[in-house]
Amino acid sequence: MPEFEGKVAFITGAAHGQGRAVALALAKEGADIVAFDVAKKIEYPRYAFGTNDELLLLKSEIEALGRRAVIAIGDVRDDAAVTAAVDEAIRELGKIDILFNNAGICAYAEVDTMTDLEWDSMIDINLKGPFQVTRRVVPHMKSRKSGVIINNSSVMGLRGGNRLSHYVASKWGLTGLTKSWAIELAPYNIRVVSIHPTGVNTPMNDGLAEMEGATPIEIAERSAGNLQPVPWIEPEDVSNLVLFLAGDKARYATGSQFVIDAGLLSV
Ligand SMILES: NC(=O)c1ccc[n+]([C@@H]2O[C@H](COP(=O)([O-])OP(=O)(O)OC[C@H]3O[C@@H](n4cnc5c(N)ncnc54)[C@H](O)[C@@H]3O)[C@@H](O)[C@H]2O)c1
Repeated sequence: MPEFEGKVAFITGAAHGQGRAVALALAKEGADIVAFDVAKKIEYPRYAFGTNDELLLLKSEIEALGRRAVIAIGDVRDDAAVTAAVDEAIRELGKIDILFNNAGICAYAEVDTMTDLEWDSMIDINLKGPFQVTRRVVPHMKSRKSGVIINNSSVMGLRGGNRLSHYVASKWGLTGLTKSWAIELAPYNIRVVSIHPTGVNTPMNDGLAEMEGATPIEIAERSAGNLQPVPWIEPEDVSNLVLFLAGDKARYATGSQFVIDAGLLSV
């Protein structure tokens, strides 16, 4: 029997990039999927967000695997949209076993010229967003005394970054939420972990390049310092880690930070 047969995963930022890879990997292993995404351009940063077409494609791919897929369009900053999506997930699929808090944004800004829009967007999406989704999902996990929450932080949730202080602050914050929720939710048999990838080959990296007038490979090289000779890792490298953490093989992993960084943080 596939490892995640009968499980339901709620994934934010699922339209493309890492969220899409995790959705497909979990569906291949038997899970039903709730794919939540804002699916439109927002005011900041001005790069390619997920689209409705991408969500529909993902839904058809999940269904072709014989699994159920619920598409939910909304912004993680919008409590009403998040609440409606969680309610729909419960109505359609009955429960939520796995929450992957993945939706996030990234952009460069220097401290002395950073605007309120830049600071507030970064903190509201990358830090308050996971809080808002977790707040609505946890009551359902608590009532079943079962659940796994995986937060997509970054290597930048464990180190500093040049012209990335708002991003770094949001990702360190998410690391802190991970540890604190793990303490609070352990009595309910709910595990909480964070993952910390180095640069990943996704539309985010393309978007950063576009905004900087650089190529994606230049962006990767600027921030990388990977020990292994790769400019970035692939979304499937991340989904492999998420599947391990979401499953029973990781049953005693909670409160911890899981780095997948091609050696970047070793130096
Ligand atoms: N790409 C990298 O190099 C990298 C490295 C480490 C960590 N991360 C983190 O991984 C996560 C996923 O990144 P990615 O590389 O797949 O990015 P991506 O930009 O390719 O995809 C992000 C998805 O999230 C959605 N999204 C963005 N803001 C949203 C909002 N407010 N509400 C709902 N959906 C929203 C987008 O529409 C998009 O589909 C992010 O949290 C990011 O910070 C990325």
